[in-house]
Amino acid sequence: MWRYLGIFSLILASSVFRTAACQSIPLFRVPKQQPASPPSLFSSNVSVSDVNGFAYLARMDIGAQNFLVLLDTGSSDLWIVSSGCTEDDCSNVPKYQPTPTLDLSPTAFELRYLLGEVSGVIGTETVGLGRFEVLSQVFALANQTAGLGLAATGNSGILGLSFPTEAAIPDTSGRTLLENLVSSLAEPDRYFAVRLGRDSGGSSFTVGELDPAYSDSLSDFAFSDVYSAGHAAYDYWKVPLHAITVNGTSFDVSDSRVPRAPSPIAIFDTGTTLILGPSADVDRLWQSIGGARKTDSGWQVRCDRAMVIGMVLGAGDGAKEYAIDPADLSWLEGGRDGDWCMGGIQSNDDVSSGDWLLGDTFLRNVYIVHHLGNSTQHPMVGLNGLTDPQTSLANFRLARGNDPTPPAPVLGKVTHHRYAISEGAICGISAAGGFVFGGVLTVVISACVARRAAKY
Ligand SMILES: *[C@@H]1O[C@H](CO)[C@@H](O)[C@H](O)[C@H]1NC(C)=O
Ligand SMILES: *[C@@H]1O[C@H](CO)[C@@H](O)[C@H](O)[C@H]1NC(C)=O
Ligand SMILES: *[C@@H]1O[C@H](CO)[C@@H](O)[C@H](O)[C@H]1NC(C)=O
Ligand SMILES: *[C@@H]1O[C@H](CO)[C@@H](O)[C@H](O)[C@H]1NC(C)=O
Repeated sequence: MWRYLGIFSLILASSVFRTAACQSIPLFRVPKQQPASPPSLFSSNVSVSDVNGFAYLARMDIGAQNFLVLLDTGSSDLWIVSSGCTEDDCSNVPKYQPTPTLDLSPTAFELRYLLGEVSGVIGTETVGLGRFEVLSQVFALANQTAGLGLAATGNSGILGLSFPTEAAIPDTSGRTLLENLVSSLAEPDRYFAVRLGRDSGGSSFTVGELDPAYSDSLSDFAFSDVYSAGHAAYDYWKVPLHAITVNGTSFDVSDSRVPRAPSPIAIFDTGTTLILGPSADVDRLWQSIGGARKTDSGWQVRCDRAMVIGMVLGAGDGAKEYAIDPADLSWLEGGRDGDWCMGGIQSNDDVSSGDWLLGDTFLRNVYIVHHLGNSTQHPMVGLNGLTDPQTSLANFRLARGNDPTPPAPVLGKVTHHRYAISEGAICGISAAGGFVFGGVLTVVISACVARRAAKY
């Protein structure tokens, strides 16, 4: 079904279970960077690296060495910094030391994310993740990283869990870790599940099983086929977005900028912190919510603005509304500027394989299953909503105080906005470190488009 089928017989990594017991792979939320001077995070002269973001890190073993890696469902490669990396960016994080089981190839590796880039060489090594061990797993050893802020976040690399078509490591070098893990599983267990916690605990990452702390049955999830245009290969974990609701009132979203897509397309990405959408929609959305203002560094909203935004997601019978906690939209962790908090939704017009990028501020509201499908079943995303609108509004009011601004006047769509992005001029926004925001974001994206990075 996927384009790499032909190489299965060529390179066969063997994946075995290390233990039989149900095991959640350790996953933690960590502060990405500590702001040097917290009081005014919104001023436009603050660089993105000073902003207080967060990242979700998973534990894994490579060559019997333990590492923390950023869990990224918006990219497809596994890479780790090697002992050859001497940049400031990778200082102070554990680095991979070659072992007798390392098999180095002469192939170079290079990957650009929205923020930062990484390069090195490709090799194979024994990799352990939770109860799985994969012998001869292909990965990249990075001897150079820039702009990824590894030292501040504490991760030694990135574990990409999107589809193989998006991998920078060529499929002729070997299958991705996700393919190897899933190939050892039988139906209906060919999936991984992610729950992102609101604090350092409460996160979960499991492969081939659910975490009973959050659900014990796949029937708790509404499944939709992953969207792919026509015969195109699957690239990211994406599904149709039918509408957005503002406090229960439907808000019309613009037509898709994805060629031939019948409705706007949402991409799930744990590696991006915020929700990003087309600027025409995002501007109208914040104007509808009210109590919001646009600044040089993006949309801000009053820290007491009490509303629930819902995303109506999924194909066919799987379409359902998922509520977002107001605390993820009036985003205090993003910084506070007097009465103003960072908006959890910001604009981005330079992604063309999808319209809305649903990062951590959305994903913290769901338990999500990524099912890889098989020869008869398309890959699927299963969502289980965890945010109750009434409860989250009540808790938000308790924490933030009374909201004096009048109710939201939901604004209708004025014109059908068609995007003029050509299919060639695509740039990545899977922000590896993920924290993207405002003016800085715009600058980075334009730079990225100009040099035509290969992501998204
Ligand atoms: C931003 O720049 C202004 C003018 O140069 C300066 O007064 C202010 O302290 C700067 N803000 C931060 C957070 O660096
Ligand atoms: C990183 O590895 C590549 C490929 O082996 C090599 O060409 C390059 O010089 C190395 N860079 C550093 C900084 O060691
Ligand atoms: C593919 O997956 C579906 C859904 O889990 C299952 O019903 C079907 O038997 C599977 N087919 C094969 C060939 O494994
Ligand atoms: C959203 O609905 C709640 C509950 O009905 C209401 O208290 C709140 O003021 C509304 N918020 C907006 C922005 O309309």
